[in-house]
Amino acid sequence: MKFQRRFFLLAIFALAIVFYLVIYSSSDFPFSNQSDSKATSQNSISKVPSILFDEKLWKKFVNNNGTVWNQDKFLSKFINSSMVIVVQVHQRIENLRALIDSMRKVRFIDESLIVFSHDYYDDSINNVIRTIDFTQVTQIFFPFSTQVWINTFPGTSYNDCKRDMTRKKAIEVDCINSKYPDTYGHYRESAITQTKHHWWWKANYVLDQLPITKNHPGIFVFIEEDHYILPDFIHSWKLMQDVKRSLNKQNERVDIFTFGNYDKISKVATNSNGIMYTEWFSSKHNMAFSIDRDLWTKLKLCSAVFCTYDDYNWDWTMQHIMQNCFDDPPFTLVPIIPRVMHIGTCGIHHKKSDCSIDGKIQNIKDMINSGLYFPKTFQLTRKMKTKKPKLKNNGGWSDPRDHQLCLQYELPLKDIISGSNPNFNSFNLLNLLNY
Ligand SMILES: *[C@@H]1O[C@H](CO)[C@@H](O)[C@H](O)[C@H]1NC(C)=O
Ligand SMILES: *[C@@H]1O[C@H](CO)[C@@H](O)[C@H](O)[C@H]1NC(C)=O
Repeated sequence: MKFQRRFFLLAIFALAIVFYLVIYSSSDFPFSNQSDSKATSQNSISKVPSILFDEKLWKKFVNNNGTVWNQDKFLSKFINSSMVIVVQVHQRIENLRALIDSMRKVRFIDESLIVFSHDYYDDSINNVIRTIDFTQVTQIFFPFSTQVWINTFPGTSYNDCKRDMTRKKAIEVDCINSKYPDTYGHYRESAITQTKHHWWWKANYVLDQLPITKNHPGIFVFIEEDHYILPDFIHSWKLMQDVKRSLNKQNERVDIFTFGNYDKISKVATNSNGIMYTEWFSSKHNMAFSIDRDLWTKLKLCSAVFCTYDDYNWDWTMQHIMQNCFDDPPFTLVPIIPRVMHIGTCGIHHKKSDCSIDGKIQNIKDMINSGLYFPKTFQLTRKMKTKKPKLKNNGGWSDPRDHQLCLQYELPLKDIISGSNPNFNSFNLLNLLNY
C-alpha cells in the first residue's frame, strides 16, 4: 500500500513537470508579453498600460533588511523550544491593533518571536507594529503582491481574461489565459488568488529562508490579522505539550496543535479545561494551528498538489493534500475553549456596511474575566471517527501562471526573478535588489 502511494505521488509529480514543460514550450501562451500586438489589437483587451508594476514599492518590499525589533531585550528568551507566531497581514489596521493589544496580555509572550507577513505596504501599519515592546518582532513582505504588480501578473494583467467571460469569447479576443478557466468556467481574479499565494510563500519563506527562523526547531503558529489571542494561549500550549507527551507514550501521534475553533462558548463552558484529540480538519481547525518541522517536510512533498489544486482557499487546499497526498491523516489537540478567536467582521467573503469589532472584543474581555482560563491541567477527550465529507474544490486557481509561481516559492527570490519565471523576464527586477 505504502509503495503504491509513493508511486502515485511520483506519478503526480512527473505529470506536473510534463504539464509545465508542455505549457512553456507552447508558443501561444504569451506570459506577460508586453509586445503582444495580436492581443492588444482587440478592443476587449486594454492597451498595454505605461506602468505595469510599481518599481518604488518593489524596492521597499524586497529590500526590507530583516530587522528584528526588541532583540536587545528578548533575544535570550527565544530558545529552541520557543514558539514562532506568524501573522498574515493585509490592510485591516483596526483588527491588527486589536490583535497586538491582545498579544500584549499573553503570559510568556516574551519567549516568542512574532513574524508579521505583509502583502500590503503601509507606513501606518508599520507604525502599529513599531508599538510592540513586549517581545521580538520582525516583518516580511510578499514580493508578488497585487499592490506592486498593478497591471500585470501576479496582479490583474491588462491582458487577462475577465472573470465572467465565456471561454468562446475569451479565445476570440485572445486574452492571455483564455484556455484556462477554472472548474466552474471562471477566469482568475488576482485579489482572490493573492491570499493563497501569500500563504504558501510565507510558509516557505519563514520555515526555510528567513535567517532568524529557518533553523528554528520549535513550532510555528499561523494566525491572521483579524484574530484575537487569549491571555493563556502560551500557558495552554505548555500544558498541551504534556498531553502530547503522554499520548506519544501510548503510540498516538499529535501532529498539530490547534488553538482556535468555531464552537459557541456557551455550549462548552462546563468543560472549560477540556481538550480534544481528533483528526485535523481544515474547516474546523484552520484558525491558529501549528506547523512543526515534521509536518512541514510532509507538506513540502505535496507542494505540486498544493499548487495545482483548483481551489483558491489555502486551508481547503491543505485539507485536500492531507486526504490525498499524505500517507496518514494528521491528528490534532484542540482546547474546547478556543485560545485564539476570530473577530474580523469584514473580509473577502463577508462585506458588511458595519465592520466594527468593538462588540466582539468586549464579549471576549467579559469572558476573560469569567475564570475559565489558565487551567492547571487539561482533561482529554477523544473523538476518533470524524466523518470525512468528499471534498469539492472551489475553483479560482486554474491559471498555469499561478501554479508555476506557487511552485517556485521554495526557491530564493533571486532565482525566481532571474530567468526561471517567464512572467518576470521583461523586468529588470534583479537590478533593484540591494543584495
Ligand atoms: C534596517 O531598517 C530599519 C528601518 O527601516 C532601520 O532603522 C535600521 O537602521 C536598518 N538596519 C540596517 C542594518 O540597515
Ligand atoms: C537548537 O537547535 C539546533 C538546530 O536543531 C541545534 O543544532 C542546537 O544544538 C540546539 N541547541 C540547544 C541548546 O539545544
